[in-house]
Amino acid sequence: MTQVDVLLGLQWGDEGKGKIVDVLSPQYDLIARFQGGPNAGHTLEFDGKKFVLNTIPSGIFNEKTMNLIGNGVVIDPIILKRELDNLQKAGHDPVAKGKLVIARKAHLILPTHQLLDAANEQKMGKDKIGSTLKGIGPTYMDKTGRNGLRVGDTTLPDFKERYKKLVEKHKEILSHYDFEYDLTEKEAAFFEAIDFIKNIPHVDSEHFVNGYLKEGKTVLAEGAQGTLLDVDFGSYPFVTSSNTTTAGACTGLGIAPNKVGSVYGIFKAYCTRVGGGPFPTELDDEVGETLRQVGHEFGATTGRARRCGWIDLPALKYAIMLNGVTELIMMKADVLDGFDTIYACTHYEHNGETIDYMPYDIITVKPTPVLKAIDGWKTDVTKVSKIEEIPAKLSEYIAFLEKELEVPVKYLSVGPDRVQTLILN
Ligand code: GDP
Ligand code: IMO
Ligand code: MG
Repeated sequence: MTQVDVLLGLQWGDEGKGKIVDVLSPQYDLIARFQGGPNAGHTLEFDGKKFVLNTIPSGIFNEKTMNLIGNGVVIDPIILKRELDNLQKAGHDPVAKGKLVIARKAHLILPTHQLLDAANEQKMGKDKIGSTLKGIGPTYMDKTGRNGLRVGDTTLPDFKERYKKLVEKHKEILSHYDFEYDLTEKEAAFFEAIDFIKNIPHVDSEHFVNGYLKEGKTVLAEGAQGTLLDVDFGSYPFVTSSNTTTAGACTGLGIAPNKVGSVYGIFKAYCTRVGGGPFPTELDDEVGETLRQVGHEFGATTGRARRCGWIDLPALKYAIMLNGVTELIMMKADVLDGFDTIYACTHYEHNGETIDYMPYDIITVKPTPVLKAIDGWKTDVTKVSKIEEIPAKLSEYIAFLEKELEVPVKYLSVGPDRVQTLILN
């Protein structure tokens, strides 16, 4: 029997998960998204083309790979339909090719979930989370509150009544906000999309994935968001509403913990965050602006400017511990090509102490990062295709990270394209 490998983000999302899942997909029979929803934006580039996926797993461009949207994912049918329409226009039709299935137990994002998200954020004013406003929080609330609608419900004869019942509840809550809305258009689009997604095979993800393992087939679980946005362990309340960690792959697909194999932890050579919340190494200056411009750090889903800063080792160590990371993947090394000196945060000064972990009161008291200066490599690495061509100073940076983090860096990414990827060991 095989095991499920897991690939997930170790920072605050947008580490480059989409690119690497696409690169690894030829090694896998099945790619399975396990949590989150269309708050995710996973970018893939190859043959001069660029795609951004929100709900669909990033294995979709590999001819032989099956793709599963797992039970832990929340699905906006309108967005899923749009994603598939766009793929079809670009000559890719995973549904027609039988390469996409969705879990019956995945919950549905209703148009009113998005309204609730927006009304709530509006009311919070300057304290808002900075949500992508895709209705993620309200949908997971209905899931755990045992009110939600699931993909499998769409085939029931009384689906519309169930929908109406839930929408009435939402309207009642919305009436307590000073928030105007018009549902008519969205509702029509929702039901059109519901009809559309009935054409995608519905499966029980727990049996589907375990069936693959029993047959000795290979499976990769694709995370969304990042560890520091995990609802339990992230910088709460500035988090998303799902478990973005390895444990989330178990509940989000229906696999037992002892079925988890390799855990690939992916991180940028620096760090970014989009939305509100603490970010100890944030650079609110021209260096941060340089990282943003060189790294094109603007959201794949919302277009928002991402906050940028130096790599944060206490945060990475925490993420590695929570996920049981067995291999690291370093992304966007090329973005640091022009720097004479780069920095890595090794500790925090916090409440008069030097610490190397993320403190509970990180929300109320900003830790001061202790930075270590590291020589830059001052070389264009975007065309580096062999280990021997990696500049010595970049190899030194990688060796330093491996020593600090106690996990090997297996892949190095030096540009957004599929081919700009090196296997290190
Ligand atoms: P994801 O959400 O983790 O899949 O990451 P996003 O797609 O939101 O953001 C990563 C961005 O960086 C995308 O625009 C990618 O095309 C781009 N990218 C990925 N790897 C690299 C790299 O090694 N170098 C550069 N310059 N860009 C990269
Ligand atoms: P991928 O998969 C980066 C952030 C939002 C906000 C917080 C809560 O592309 O890495 P939500 O919409 O979940 O209510 O937002 O989480 N966020 C992300 N940041 N990448 C993502 O996904 C994110 N998904 C949510 O900006 O701060
Ligand atoms: Mg993203």
